[in-house]
Amino acid sequence: MSFAELWDSLLDIGRDPATGGYRRYSFTAADAACRAWFMKTAAERNLRTHSDRNANLWAWWDGPGAAGPAIITGSHLDSVPDGGAFDGPLGVVSAFAAVDLLRERGFTPARPVAVAAFCEEEGGRFGMACLGSRLLTGAVTPETARELRDGAGVTFAEAMAGAGLDPAGLGADEELLARIGAFVELHIEQGSALDGLGAAVGVAESIWPHGRWRLDFAGRADHAGTTRLDDRRDPMLPYAAAVLEARQAAATAGALATFGKVVAEPGAANAISSAVHAWLDARAPGQEVLDHVVGLIEAAARRAAQSQGVEVGVRRESFTPRVEFDQALRDRVSRALAGRGIAAPVLPTGAGHDAGFLAARLPTAMLFVRNPTGVSHSPAEHATRTDCEAGVVALAAVLEELTSP
Ligand code: GLV
Ligand code: MN
Ligand code: MN
Repeated sequence: MSFAELWDSLLDIGRDPATGGYRRYSFTAADAACRAWFMKTAAERNLRTHSDRNANLWAWWDGPGAAGPAIITGSHLDSVPDGGAFDGPLGVVSAFAAVDLLRERGFTPARPVAVAAFCEEEGGRFGMACLGSRLLTGAVTPETARELRDGAGVTFAEAMAGAGLDPAGLGADEELLARIGAFVELHIEQGSALDGLGAAVGVAESIWPHGRWRLDFAGRADHAGTTRLDDRRDPMLPYAAAVLEARQAAATAGALATFGKVVAEPGAANAISSAVHAWLDARAPGQEVLDHVVGLIEAAARRAAQSQGVEVGVRRESFTPRVEFDQALRDRVSRALAGRGIAAPVLPTGAGHDAGFLAARLPTAMLFVRNPTGVSHSPAEHATRTDCEAGVVALAAVLEELTSP
């Protein structure tokens, strides 16, 4: 099957007709359809499938002659609210397409190959990014994961059970990890560096440390038309101070800081809010800079809250330390690509990936596919068909290199 046919077979699942963005949240109907697509796509290729104890999906190509530690490739199928088509799915579709390409060429891997799709990579429903790969590698405890709640108060454990999966088994899976030799994740670039360099494909060097913080401002609801300004305890004001400080501190430090989600309670246009809940996403090239930026934002929020008689609570919901991808594997990937005439620049990224968590336990590498505008986490995210096909060729080359006798 061509890349285009495979791509199109997934394209309509979970797409909102009004925005054109994807709403593929874990354990919803859209997620069930994505999981069914994965299983069907694998079955059509005679790949052995299973859902692991952490709701990650696996499709194994481990025919006769394949022995030793497996080479894993894949990504995720969930999305941010109104995400693009490529972030995650490009890596999964390309993985199946690379298997097809290798088989068409008559290649027989000397090691098992598996395609993986990790659960809740975006943290779009339960707030913690890369939850499936964190659980698999023991970077989060099953107890913490079970109790994560979505916006409606449903726990991860309840949602998982609702999807017919057993949350009792959640947790690090040493047996599965022991079967894996290396992981290679292909992903759309979430920036436009490759476009600037005139390359269709790149190789990841590192991931910036990054995290999410929840800020809860508690004030006092009151009438917008009668409450004197001096008598207000308006939580929106310290929230606004935090937003402005985020921009200022990030700009000064060479970091990134974003408030992309805010909930005002009770949400009346003619009332002072009783509470504001806001989520900060902050990223920087190094840990010290990140700590400094988040510290400035928190201090600004606390100062402004105090001056307005507002209570503020700050809680880190999710964190990923800096990741350096395995140098030896990266060099091997680069050599394999160069040997086939593929020029693939090496790039750092500020985006988080399951590969970042697997990198703590296994040699891990990433391939990026050019994104001409750099736009991501948006329906406007795009890669050309030609570049996607170049990504499949590059991934197949890497799998061939890593699984040759
Ligand atoms: C995932 O795409 C992230 O970087 O938040
Ligand atoms: Mn993403
Ligand atoms: Mn992604």
